Amino acid sequence: MTQALLPIEIDSRDLRQAFGCFATGVAIVSTQTPEGRPVGMTVNSLASVSMSPPALSWCLRNESPNYDNFVRARYFGVSVLAHDQEALCRRFATPRDDKFAGVAVTPGESGVPLITSAVAAFECEHLEAIACGDHAILIGRVARYAWRRQCTPLLFFQGALHAAELRPLR
Ligand SMILES: Cc1cc2nc3c(=O)[nH]c(=O)nc-3n(C[C@H](O)[C@H](O)[C@H](O)COP(=O)(O)O)c2cc1C
Repeated sequence: MTQALLPIEIDSRDLRQAFGCFATGVAIVSTQTPEGRPVGMTVNSLASVSMSPPALSWCLRNESPNYDNFVRARYFGVSVLAHDQEALCRRFATPRDDKFAGVAVTPGESGVPLITSAVAAFECEHLEAIACGDHAILIGRVARYAWRRQCTPLLFFQGALHAAELRPLR
């Protein structure tokens, strides 16, 4: 007999570990402040949402110092990291004001900074921010994008970064 799922006392550390069983890629989301300063952060909550219109989503922590910058921006960028961009992943996951200093970027048409040599890059128009608990779900319409076929992505699984060689199952 199937056990009913009962409400539980949430151990947030344990729940984070359970969520971490879902292996993901890693991306840097980026935008500009009203003064034109580039800001960005590492995320693994990226998801494709819709083909028509083309749309993607990611989740933004309410406590982020860049919450207002992302929620109010008209555009944001998404750069999907390659296996050799671990240092960028760690840099953009650490709070500091000058995360982009010395980082090779290609500005999108809207001016959002996109990471050079990313596996894929998306320039998005911000459509909606949906509040959900301690995060907001940001949805963007993909205005432009580019991607590379020959590459190995950076992966995040059970709390650790991986640069595993992929073995396609046929
Ligand atoms: C692999 C990885 C994935 C992350 N995913 C997210 C995410 O999806 N959303 C989020 O708000 N923070 C995420 N973080 C945490 C942010 O990168 C981190 O809090 C960063 O300092 C945020 O930038 P800020 O301090 O400028 O807000 C992730 C961190 C790592 C290392």
